[in-house]
Amino acid sequence: MFGFDLHGLFKRVLGRRLNQPNIEILNLLANVIESRDPYTVGHTWRVAKYVSAMSRHLGWSSERVASLEIGSFLHDLGKISTEDRILKKPGKLTAEEYEQIKAHPTEGRRLLQGIEFLQSAIPGIYSHHEHYDGSGYPEGLQSDAIPEEGRLIAIADVFDAITSNRPYRNPMSAEKGLSYLQEQKGALFEPRLVDLFTSIWARGKLEKTVLHSEGHIPLIACPHDGPTIALKRGASEGDSIYCPVCKTRFVLVKRNKQWQVLLTQ
Ligand SMILES: [Fe+2]
Repeated sequence: MFGFDLHGLFKRVLGRRLNQPNIEILNLLANVIESRDPYTVGHTWRVAKYVSAMSRHLGWSSERVASLEIGSFLHDLGKISTEDRILKKPGKLTAEEYEQIKAHPTEGRRLLQGIEFLQSAIPGIYSHHEHYDGSGYPEGLQSDAIPEEGRLIAIADVFDAITSNRPYRNPMSAEKGLSYLQEQKGALFEPRLVDLFTSIWARGKLEKTVLHSEGHIPLIACPHDGPTIALKRGASEGDSIYCPVCKTRFVLVKRNKQWQVLLTQ
């Protein structure tokens, strides 16, 4: 629906371990998550890119990297059970509403119970809101007690959230996003992993992930909502395209080698 074509990616990364129906199930779940919260278009793809880069530097086996990537795609699966009035509320949440949001890691784990091929992704999903200092949820785990998958997804998730567009603010620059990670060393995040992310960033490996979606294609700005529109590979001028947030339909045009959208007459 939102151009969330993970098929090629899943096949490349996981093809040897997953059969076609399982790849399609993953694709469906990733689409469902993004349709519930259209501002997060490309979010799960970007989180997966960040954690994949970090875990490879940590020398993980390809099997463990693959499970971590699946966990990244599905980390917010539990939010499909969160009420719309809470999930889409622009202002501050009440304590009771926040409690409902905080249920999503547990809910994600529940939804995946009994799905054999996704069991290894659960630790990352269940622990991605734990904080290194123990102030997170759902368990309030501290430092090494948090599965490393959760510690990695936590960094990637927050970095992507603050460097992406949201209804109430423009994206923060990558540099400011990196300083925020530094500030939160030892509090929200494991210091060693923040330094790892920063060093991978410094090598220029991740720039084409920020504000991009599948296939490293830059998000296009909707005139109302900012960079929210994912472009499919192979798109061409004159294609009809719409913003997943405001649902306005546009026509795709190229101006000075940049893609833009124009209102249809
Ligand atoms: Fe989450």
